[in-house]
Amino acid sequence: MKNKFYITTPIYYVNAKPHIGHAYTTIAADVLARFQKLQGKEVFFLTGTDEHGLKIQKKAAEAGMAPQQFVDGISEEFKRLWEGLDIGYSSFIRTTDEDHVETVKKVLQALYDRKAVKKGLYSGLYCVGCELFKSNNELVDGKCPDHDSAPEQMTEECWVLKMTERQKELVGKITSDEIKIRPQKYKKEILSFLENRLDDVSISRKNVSWGIPLPFDPGQTSYVWIDAFLNYLTGLGWNGDLDDIPDEWPADVQLMGKDIIRVHATIWLVMLMHLDMELPKEIFVHGHILSGGKKMSKTLGNAIAIEEMIGKFGTDGTRYLLLSAGPFGEDVDVTMERLVEKYNADLANGLGNLVSRVVKLSENLDILKTMDRQLESVEKENIRVFMDNLNFDAALIEIMGRIYKANKYITDKEPWKIAKENQAEFLAVMTISKIDLWEIAYLLEPFMPETSEKIKKALETKQAEILFPRIK
Ligand code: ME8
Ligand code: MG
Repeated sequence: MKNKFYITTPIYYVNAKPHIGHAYTTIAADVLARFQKLQGKEVFFLTGTDEHGLKIQKKAAEAGMAPQQFVDGISEEFKRLWEGLDIGYSSFIRTTDEDHVETVKKVLQALYDRKAVKKGLYSGLYCVGCELFKSNNELVDGKCPDHDSAPEQMTEECWVLKMTERQKELVGKITSDEIKIRPQKYKKEILSFLENRLDDVSISRKNVSWGIPLPFDPGQTSYVWIDAFLNYLTGLGWNGDLDDIPDEWPADVQLMGKDIIRVHATIWLVMLMHLDMELPKEIFVHGHILSGGKKMSKTLGNAIAIEEMIGKFGTDGTRYLLLSAGPFGEDVDVTMERLVEKYNADLANGLGNLVSRVVKLSENLDILKTMDRQLESVEKENIRVFMDNLNFDAALIEIMGRIYKANKYITDKEPWKIAKENQAEFLAVMTISKIDLWEIAYLLEPFMPETSEKIKKALETKQAEILFPRIK
């Protein structure tokens, strides 16, 4: 498939309801998917939920529920909130889907047959929040900084995936950009991590019942990450046949937060190498949404709920505010106060005001009822470059600049005065303003799909509702 574009988000744990950190990745993926579609690509956009493992087993037990019943509820919640954010995924994968489970078993068997795994003993400090073993230098005062809790010492018999023997090859593939890791600083970080010996990793658990049993040792269940990574293939409908890989593979972009880049850039890639499969073309890493200086997290409980944002700012307001909160690769600290300020400035006073002015002023004029998308503006070209670099906030700044200019043009020209003096000039000014607004509507399409539609409609029908009411 030549013209395809396959994009993935992480699949999220269903230990608690999603928050705006999860929305951040998912909105970004949706915007990129829509943008690529508008460029004529055949897009497949996959997201979903990661439902096995110790963390979820424990949460279900705390809630006094059977794990399946527990995960069904939260997975549904993810879907509901993605709908509220206008996320147009192609498919939603759950790791408890029967087909997924069957394929994971086949792949585990294939890894065994290829001698990619061996029996081992694993010992280390395990953070259940991360579902990862931690080394001492990743801890702060003996605690995992992302989960504010001390990891547990764990020693058990298990199966391990051979990593060390593939280390050199992996480093070569990352260095040469056969698998691109962007932004550059994360590629550097991973390569510097890989200067030390890459140990074999445990791929199974003895005492975690909520997982997929190993076909060659049913007393053990698959480590949740091994199960989870395969979603990127099972989500395409893959049945585990290594001679029949879905056309969409390899992924064009795998989007994720910086918390999980290391597991992806090591375990996931080495797994694919053992299977002789192509690596994803690119892993793109973004920073964390912080709240009060700490990573916003379901486990920490310092999260802003998605509903709260949608309730205040609407679907597109939320999409806009999250993607424009700061540079995509960097951490951004989010407070409700700053979000409200930005909403009022950019959306209520900026975009919303422009739409109502242009529609109102031109309501008696018969100009530019429709216009097509073939505009070639400086902004459009700049946005294309920004989007190649997943520089969402720069793309939005570009659009806001265009909105600012269009508003300023009207303020400077004072068409409401000209209308009384010179009809020809009034017509000329309003034609320019309408072209501006048409173009802005097209530029906004991937970012704020519903708003873009509403603006086009308002230009056609000459009736505008208030798009973004001011918030006090
Ligand atoms: O790690 N800021 O799931 P998870 C920005 N199931 N992004 C955030 C965020 C924040 N504060 N909090 C979460 C897992 N995210 C595994 C993944 S993939 C095969 C398995 C986003 O529920 C971000 O994309 O902990 C991060 O990488 C992901 O959610 C982690 O979600
Ligand atoms: Mg997490």
